[in-house]
Amino acid sequence: MLPPQRIAGRERRAFRWRTAIPWTTCVRVACCSRLRFMWFALVVLTVLCGALQMLGVVRQARSSKVLKLVSEQLVRMPAEMYRPVKHKDWENLWSVSAAIVEEPLDLQPFIQRKDESENPHSEEGRDQVLEDTRKKLSSSTKAAPPIEAIKLWLDQYFPNQPQRPAFPKRTPEIHKPPPSDDKTDKQTVKSLVDDTAMCHPKNHIVFLKTHKTASSTILNILYRYGESHNLTFALPLNMQSQLFYPAFFAAHFVEGVRTRSVEEFHILCNHMRFSSQEVRKVMPKDTFYFSILRNPVSMMESLFVYYKAIPAFRTVKSLEEFLIQAPENDTELDKRSAEVIAAVERDFPLILISEYFDESLVLLKHALCWSLDDVSSFRLNSRSERSRRPLSAEIAEWVKEWNSLDWRLYQHFNATFWKRIDSTLGRAKLQQEVELLSAKRRKLEKMCLQEGGAVDPAQVQDSSLKPFQYGAAVIQGYNLRLGLSNATRQLCHRLITPELQYTSALYTKQFPHLADVRAVAANKFAASRSTAMHRAVKHYFDLTYQYK
Ligand SMILES: *[C@@H]1O[C@H](CO)[C@@H](O)[C@H](O)[C@H]1NC(C)=O
Ligand SMILES: *[C@@H]1O[C@H](CO)[C@@H](O)[C@H](O)[C@H]1NC(C)=O
Ligand SMILES: *[C@@H]1O[C@H](CO)[C@@H](O)[C@H](O)[C@H]1NC(C)=O
Ligand SMILES: *[C@@H]1O[C@H](CO)[C@@H](O)[C@H](O)[C@H]1NC(C)=O
Repeated sequence: MLPPQRIAGRERRAFRWRTAIPWTTCVRVACCSRLRFMWFALVVLTVLCGALQMLGVVRQARSSKVLKLVSEQLVRMPAEMYRPVKHKDWENLWSVSAAIVEEPLDLQPFIQRKDESENPHSEEGRDQVLEDTRKKLSSSTKAAPPIEAIKLWLDQYFPNQPQRPAFPKRTPEIHKPPPSDDKTDKQTVKSLVDDTAMCHPKNHIVFLKTHKTASSTILNILYRYGESHNLTFALPLNMQSQLFYPAFFAAHFVEGVRTRSVEEFHILCNHMRFSSQEVRKVMPKDTFYFSILRNPVSMMESLFVYYKAIPAFRTVKSLEEFLIQAPENDTELDKRSAEVIAAVERDFPLILISEYFDESLVLLKHALCWSLDDVSSFRLNSRSERSRRPLSAEIAEWVKEWNSLDWRLYQHFNATFWKRIDSTLGRAKLQQEVELLSAKRRKLEKMCLQEGGAVDPAQVQDSSLKPFQYGAAVIQGYNLRLGLSNATRQLCHRLITPELQYTSALYTKQFPHLADVRAVAANKFAASRSTAMHRAVKHYFDLTYQYK
């Protein structure tokens, strides 16, 4: 209830308002006569029609602008790939991708906040990398022999290793131990108490990809496994390389979710900000979740070099300078870290540790019931030694303080990682498998790589296999050996395909129609741009001749 004086005051104001505005009276007078009313209605209708037409024109102009921006993004010049990233650029690109996506309405606030959101990952240059690959991949995937050949070849190549379990069938049948035709083989399996002989290979997988933790190598493992087993990937909308990080994941960020064009997703593994509830909308109930952590000290050094251009790091000269601005003392650190650890443990039954990468792969192999061949890999998206700079003990302490929550998280999961090994495999068997794994890697390196190892990006001969360069880090790549047989070349090619190119290739395979639409738009734009350029150049020469 309002006090009586206020009600009185309000009425007085309302009265004054009514009397003060003469047009209301005009309307009343106009509506009195029927003829005048009809004339009035006609005028209103005409105005409305005009307004609607205007709106249509504006919308058309807007959508053609978006298309132009998309095409621009698709046909970046190769030189841009290697120049230092400007903040403005990724800002623009983020707005562009936002404009293309359009549907995820809940993304809008995040996009408007792009300045403070400090999205560390630019999409810059990726499209050029992809453009180089696109034609190549589409021809090479068509010409490539079936996967089976590679499997046979791999088994041939490692004849005395325990055989890999049979390929998983996607029908829900009980998996039998693989038939072994070799007596020694059987014994090895038994003596190692190999659980892969009894378990069923998992093919519903979520990998929470984290930054600067060797996660690109794990992505390659998942991509290769999924591709060779005909599994479907929950890929980002519009051929993006990540699931709109750092916005929280939403089911409709995945291509095919909204259109319901994909029956079942098997693997979700691109960069995202995890939301358990939303991920569960996309992935089946029996999905296996895992992720990887790295020591926050070395991670900080790596992040600083790689993401030097982001707002948080841009204004400081060195990591030391950044660390001096220590955050406030977190008085509730104990409580918060306990909560975070509990939440991670609830969602992720396996957390790998980057510092023990091969041990992690062995653990992963057991958790997924895969073979060692499945987890054999080369290091991808790895920095050259030149751009590494170990931190002093004092700075390391600062980092731990700065990232106290991460530091606790890491210590906890490092401890559970080793506990898990002790309670399942045991260290001796772990060591044995780690050695087998590195022997396999050495063989693959010898077989696949021209130089037997990673090379600097400038030395990568095939431009479609150049890794995406970012920040001050020098990301190394590989050269394939010449004269490989078709099957071997396909295996080797997959092993060294960088993340962006592989993501795009899988998208093209899974959504050929959508990929075509993008390619056509890109070509159209490239053509129009080259004619425009031609005209401009001609005009320039005309002018110079006039002045001669
Ligand atoms: C994958 O699909 C191809 C073509 O449909 C088929 O030939 C091949 O056997 C499949 N591979 C597996 C492992 O299911
Ligand atoms: C943070 O606060 C706690 C309790 O208030 C105190 O014991 C601790 O020394 C403080 N740490 C730092 C680095 O200031
Ligand atoms: C991780 O665990 C291993 C094995 O227990 C230990 O040697 C190492 O010091 C731990 N690392 C950290 C940073 O706590
Ligand atoms: C290898 O692939 C090429 C085309 O890429 C094809 O002409 C050739 O016959 C293939 N060789 C074998 C042994 O399959």
